[in-house]
Amino acid sequence: MKHRSRYRVGALSPACLLLLACSSGSPSSGGSPSDEPVVGVAAAGPDDRRAERLALVDEHLVGSGIVDARVLAAMRAVPRHRFVPADLARLAYRDRALPIGLEQTISQPYVVAFMTQAAEVAPGDKVLEIGTGSGYQAAVLAEIVGELWSIEIVAPLAERARGTLAACGYDRVHVRTGDGYRGWPEEAPFDVILVTAAPDHVPAPLLEQLAEGGRLVLPVGDEYQEIVRIRRTPDGLERERLLPVRFVPMTGEAQERR
Ligand SMILES: C[S@@+](CC[C@H](N)C(=O)[O-])C[C@H]1O[C@@H](n2cnc3c(N)ncnc32)[C@H](O)[C@@H]1O
Repeated sequence: MKHRSRYRVGALSPACLLLLACSSGSPSSGGSPSDEPVVGVAAAGPDDRRAERLALVDEHLVGSGIVDARVLAAMRAVPRHRFVPADLARLAYRDRALPIGLEQTISQPYVVAFMTQAAEVAPGDKVLEIGTGSGYQAAVLAEIVGELWSIEIVAPLAERARGTLAACGYDRVHVRTGDGYRGWPEEAPFDVILVTAAPDHVPAPLLEQLAEGGRLVLPVGDEYQEIVRIRRTPDGLERERLLPVRFVPMTGEAQERR
């Protein structure tokens, strides 16, 4: 595998990006009462909070290296407040990760946009997400590709995400409950595999399920991680280090192999 160690996406320095990118699992979000399981999705307001969403995109994403028009349009379209617990809906349009219960989080909007852009997602791509969580990242991807496959290891989160996605009209997102370490072989190969929990190594089954020209984008590491993009080229796999981040760890087989 060829390695490139430059940080290639985004105009900010790695140190700056680390502050921006703390996607999930930050110590300050643990232990909040909102870490309890929550049922249902936040109700849409009369205007679906579009003005707040546009402000989030214009103030925090445009100008911070997010330039892909499809990604910006998707971020403007998905009602993030419907993917967070109702008691945190007021914070939905801040650029920060939020707890969604069961010690998991919905990623920071900047990181969702960054990973979607890094994956170079385009209409017609076949996409697999590992770590459905709230379903928000899946909805952003669905805005671009329509249909996709997503795996969540925590059954109640998978169940809730299915409900939220359906209620928001994303009815071609197929959510499976299970360990994403082994991917979704029956649906492979994928043009894009996007992982939103951090293993300390790249799962070999995910590399095997990557189509020619496909991109695997994932955080890799222990406490501190980097978002890495691996591209399958005719000459083999190319690996690029993109962004320092902190995600929740990938559990299941990834945890057992640590
Ligand atoms: C940072 S959260 C994901 C955020 C999510 N993409 C969203 O938009 O809300 C990481 C998710 O990965 C899940 N996860 C961790 N290990 C996993 C595994 N081996 N397979 C599938 N999901 C996993 C966690 O349960 C958690 O819901």
